Amino acid sequence: MKRIRLVKYRVFEWRDAPEKVTTSLRGVELSPITPGNSECVQDFRGPAVARRFANMADSGQIGLYARINGRVVGHGWVTAPSDRRRRVNGYFDLEPHEALIHFCAVDPEYRGHRIFGLLLHELARVARSKDLNAKVLVDTESENSASIKGIEAAGFNPSFDLVVWRVGRWAPYRGRRVQ
Ligand SMILES: CC(C)(COP(=O)(O)OP(=O)(O)OC[C@H]1O[C@@H](n2cnc3c(N)ncnc32)[C@H](O)[C@@H]1OP(=O)(O)O)[C@@H](O)C(=O)NCCC(=O)NCCS
Repeated sequence: MKRIRLVKYRVFEWRDAPEKVTTSLRGVELSPITPGNSECVQDFRGPAVARRFANMADSGQIGLYARINGRVVGHGWVTAPSDRRRRVNGYFDLEPHEALIHFCAVDPEYRGHRIFGLLLHELARVARSKDLNAKVLVDTESENSASIKGIEAAGFNPSFDLVVWRVGRWAPYRGRRVQ
């Protein structure tokens, strides 16, 4: 019998005029992830993630590192805004002018200082600078409470739930937005 895999995500939208997010840590700097510096994430996330970063940067996605004294302590990505419908991450169907922030993480040693919020704001700002009409979304699994708190603290508003499922291991995911 084929197994059904079902995942529920909460999706949030960037507010038009969010207040500034500040981190309680000093010396956090944000900088772009490029194909040439993707190996900088290796100490934090390992070689497989570094290779994935190189591919994502090559394909035009926008990535940011958060660094302290040059060391990578966090990262996040946003899809480049597009005027076409497309599927992202194998499950998320984006409408035209929607941009998705995804693949964010903060080093466990540095969590709880709103570094995530800094990344979210800057990724949203960069997406909007490339498409003034971009609706900037961020998704997270519905039971990821740390992520949900960080997203809400950064001033994002709940937008919709996304339920995705597939039957068997190899079928493509199907998804439905639930308001
Ligand atoms: C989700 C994540 C990016 C948040 O990063 P962050 O910079 O710590 O975010 P914040 O400082 O805004 O903290 C958010 C919440 O994390 C929790 N938190 C705080 N300190 C923490 C710690 N030391 N360890 C774990 N969670 C902690 C708290 O619930 C906090 O919310 P609160 O301050 O309102 O209570 C980080 O926990 C992480 O990398 N998790 C694993 C990957 C992941 O889930 N990515 C998100 C996918 S969108």
